[in-house]
Amino acid sequence: MTRIDSFHQPVMADEAVDLLKIRPDGIYIDATAGGGGYTYRIVSRLDSSGKVFAIDRDDEAVAITLKRLESFGSRVQVIQGAFGDLKALALAHGMTDISGVIFDLGVSSWQFDSVERGFTYRGDGPLDFRMDRRTETTAADIINSYSEKQLADALFHYGEEKNSRKVAYAIVQARRKSPIKTTGELARVIESVTNPRYVNKSLSRCFQAIRIIVNEELEQLETGLRASFDILRSGGRLVVVSYHSLEDRIVKLFMRGAVKGKMDADYEDPMGNYKSLARLINKKPLVPSSEEIKENPRARSAKLRVMEKL
Ligand SMILES: C[S@@+](CC[C@H](N)C(=O)[O-])C[C@H]1O[C@@H](n2cnc3c(N)ncnc32)[C@H](O)[C@@H]1O
Repeated sequence: MTRIDSFHQPVMADEAVDLLKIRPDGIYIDATAGGGGYTYRIVSRLDSSGKVFAIDRDDEAVAITLKRLESFGSRVQVIQGAFGDLKALALAHGMTDISGVIFDLGVSSWQFDSVERGFTYRGDGPLDFRMDRRTETTAADIINSYSEKQLADALFHYGEEKNSRKVAYAIVQARRKSPIKTTGELARVIESVTNPRYVNKSLSRCFQAIRIIVNEELEQLETGLRASFDILRSGGRLVVVSYHSLEDRIVKLFMRGAVKGKMDADYEDPMGNYKSLARLINKKPLVPSSEEIKENPRARSAKLRVMEKL
């Protein structure tokens, strides 16, 4: 692991950046800067006219990427923002004719391991889960205000938690006594209704569900993919690394839609005239090697998909 990767050990980084098929004079967008691992690998392949525009919702990720890559000067620009606003952000910063956009979804190891950011059930931090701490809604707001049905549906749909009804019931009972304020309190409620054999799986599924809602992750992904497509030049590539089936499904359907020329799922051309707008570079998603998973177990669920705009 290089020094640049100590904030977050990037997953499939060399493969993902290879698949961008970098042109040394191109303009690239790293939609999820994190610790700057991908950004660094991209900028290292550019000449003095190439540029990387890196975005992250998290102020700490922005600060760390800026600091680590300052020696590249104006070839790297890092800003705090959500990739759902990618098109507006790119245009506002004069980034057009984009040769490639890369997404590495989810949270960084730094966010996950910082108990005070409240993403993890290991430790007892505030029930927060916000990637961008300027946004209002925290996990505590959701846990303490959703109805039992809303909670059960959320845990089922976004966490694929089979025990969702029992967990939702237990949350509502617990918060009647006093609001649930910390990750430890929430974890204990989930544990109280979960078979000890599956407790870690259940905790991560429930925490994932709440995180997805707090950060509107699926809506962000849908808008961000569409925005990337709009600003890509012809021949430009879109590379996405996702970490769970809900994300991967959105990426897969988006890319298939672009290949068929049906970008808006709701729109049907009465004459059925669709013109393909993209080609897939890999028909099946790429996954990390067993060596990478051994070295970095967090890579185990990664799926990498790539398409090229025609
Ligand atoms: C897995 S990390 C990226 C790691 C990065 N590729 C690296 O090599 O260091 C995911 C990052 O995406 C950011 N993120 C997640 N959703 C986002 C969104 N909608 N807009 C911008 N950044 C987002 C998170 O804050 C986190 O820093």
